[in-house]
Amino acid sequence: MNWLSPSILAADFNRLGEQIRIVQDCGSQALHFDVMDGLFVPSISFGMPVLASIRKETDLFLDVHLMIREPVRYIREFTESGADLITVHYEACSDVAATLRAIREAGVKVGMSIRPETPVSVLRPFVKSLDLILIMSVNPGFGGQKFMEGTYAKLSEVRQMYAEVFGHAYGDDVPRLEVDGGINLQNVASVLAAGADTIVTGSAVFRGDIADNTRRFLSILAGEKE
Ligand code: DX5
Ligand code: ZN
Repeated sequence: MNWLSPSILAADFNRLGEQIRIVQDCGSQALHFDVMDGLFVPSISFGMPVLASIRKETDLFLDVHLMIREPVRYIREFTESGADLITVHYEACSDVAATLRAIREAGVKVGMSIRPETPVSVLRPFVKSLDLILIMSVNPGFGGQKFMEGTYAKLSEVRQMYAEVFGHAYGDDVPRLEVDGGINLQNVASVLAAGADTIVTGSAVFRGDIADNTRRFLSILAGEKE
């Protein structure tokens, strides 16, 4: 089943609770929480206190994307703050296996992400320990960027890797395939067709009519014609 995971980075922080309720009431399956440290990526966003207050507000699946150096240092805190899944960047971990183990041992789902310039092949040694792979379709660090077309080939490569490792490209036993950055109502159908099943989108949901945007994304994800 396809999931929509709106990124709150693009929300109005003066009305965050209200806007989260809108996407939840419209039927979003998850909420994407972009953590940036100003080191792994140029921006600084938000951290555990904001996540903890959101956790009190919603029972949506909290999809936490750590764009921070050495994320193993914060797995316990983000778990205690309410994460349901923690995604770390391959490029940010000095010991990837140990970091993925720490997330698993914390009792939350395990995700790994790669930047646009990082090849899919780096994921292969870890694919059986993952619940989700996040393919970045922009250089991480900012919302509102343009979708990078090279993402389509990477999605097919991941599905090919699944077929080789699991014997099939799709199924409940393969990691979710999430894409993040520059996704809108015009390109989301192509992103799904290329192999994604989990869509992160920030500005295309939170700018304009949030409820209408959310419902339109969800109907495309449900396979209904626009
Ligand atoms: C970028 C973040 C994305 C971003 C998506 O580093 O990981 O989640 O917030 O925002 P849009 O959909 O506006 O590109
Ligand atoms: Zn993100």
